[in-house]
Amino acid sequence: MAIFILSFFVPIDFTPFHRFSTLSLLFFSASLFFTAAFSLGINYGQIASNLPHPEAVVPLVKSIGATHVKLYDADPRVLKAFANTGVEFIVGLGNEYLGRMRDPKQAASWVKTNVQTYLPATNITCIAVGNEVLTLNDSTLSSNLLPAMESIHSALVSLNLDKQVMVTTAHNLAVLEVSYPPSAGAFRRDLTQKLSCILDFHSKVGSPFLINAYPYFAYKANPKQVSLDFVLFESDSGMVDQASGLHYDNMFCAQIDAAYSAVEKLGYKNVCLQISETGWPSKGDPDEAGATPENARKYNGNLIKLISEKKGTPMRPNQDLNIYVFALFNENQKPGPTSERNFGLFKPDGTPVYNLGFNSTGLLSTNTTGSVSSSGGTTLSGSSPAVTGSSSNGYLSITADDAERLPIERALFLLSLIVSAILSFQL
Ligand SMILES: *[C@@H]1O[C@H](CO)[C@@H](O)[C@H](O)[C@H]1NC(C)=O
Ligand SMILES: *[C@@H]1O[C@H](CO)[C@@H](O)[C@H](O)[C@H]1NC(C)=O
Ligand SMILES: *[C@@H]1O[C@H](CO)[C@@H](O)[C@H](O)[C@H]1NC(C)=O
Ligand SMILES: *[C@@H]1O[C@H](CO)[C@@H](O)[C@H](O)[C@H]1NC(C)=O
Repeated sequence: MAIFILSFFVPIDFTPFHRFSTLSLLFFSASLFFTAAFSLGINYGQIASNLPHPEAVVPLVKSIGATHVKLYDADPRVLKAFANTGVEFIVGLGNEYLGRMRDPKQAASWVKTNVQTYLPATNITCIAVGNEVLTLNDSTLSSNLLPAMESIHSALVSLNLDKQVMVTTAHNLAVLEVSYPPSAGAFRRDLTQKLSCILDFHSKVGSPFLINAYPYFAYKANPKQVSLDFVLFESDSGMVDQASGLHYDNMFCAQIDAAYSAVEKLGYKNVCLQISETGWPSKGDPDEAGATPENARKYNGNLIKLISEKKGTPMRPNQDLNIYVFALFNENQKPGPTSERNFGLFKPDGTPVYNLGFNSTGLLSTNTTGSVSSSGGTTLSGSSPAVTGSSSNGYLSITADDAERLPIERALFLLSLIVSAILSFQL
């Protein structure tokens, strides 16, 4: 079972960052306001031309209390910069490498170069093999996925690293054919066979199942009918899943529980789930409803509050939510609608895009104390990526883009399920 270790305020060591004094100062002031204890993962995407050097990113990550970072590749500069920081990493192996990972020699070589080299100074705890592969509908890629995961796992076993480094892959929520009500969650029938085998792998090696979940896209597709309060965790009423009797006051938990239901239907109740991406854009095109700094602040702030409350989801109330927010930075080189370049908590200069809500009394007024605990197991899971330099493919498939790449009919169909369910519950 994967559990996040709670993080505390961590004093920042500025020495390596003298060249970034302005940034450091900003980070430092941000960190002064961070006193709450909670655990958080963040996606560190780098499809941008203007990001700070990874060494300058270390204090930024610490300023928001993030204890886990997910990369879309295994960028050596980042992995070196985060040595001895205590931050845990998911590194990514890009979709373009899946085919050749069937070869045990190549898998071993990848693990040695991209993982073993940095251990133990940099705490890499997970490898995300491929990103959102199954929803790309590329049969060659899909059939290479599990063999690549197995091959990477075998390489870890032979290097005696399999106990400390997990192997997984991240899925788009569109692997679900039914997502509402949560108890009816089920995988796309044409993917069931492959997902069963992948879940069997998770069950055997003890790694988590990763899902990328964006209530934002449900809202964007149908802003007149989807309740903004419901997607921003601010609904007074919420809805009840008639089949399970469980009450949902936000779409995020409903999506996660739908994924849990789908996993359980295949018989893998013991596989734990992590949310490898979720987030909200602070800016969008005129036709992208809801993409504002205020909504992004509410979504991410309320999400972090939810994590800090450690209440799990209605279906899994005792399970910590292991979540990676998307994303650390706005990324100016991502294609697609304006929202795609504006999911960041920070601008490239290190200033916050909006005030996340930390202040000296703590995190978003939640009543958390400074020392908590949490048990630890391993965690993480990851998503995909590509090796530095060619990260675009893997990375793009991760976010919103994927949703956007779905044929419009299918996307609308999925959304209409959600929407009609919401309406029928009279939100
Ligand atoms: C800090 O946050 C709490 C809860 O949101 C709020 O009541 C309080 O006024 C804030 N304090 C400052 C100094 O902003
Ligand atoms: C925080 O928790 C303490 C102890 O449980 C309680 O006394 C206090 O009233 C709480 N404060 C808020 C703002 O909820
Ligand atoms: C790395 O993370 C794992 C999982 O949280 C933890 O058990 C381990 O102690 C960490 N290793 C180091 C060197 O910090
Ligand atoms: C993928 O295949 C499924 C099942 O045939 C289909 O419903 C879906 O629209 C396809 N998606 C893409 C992105 O081509």
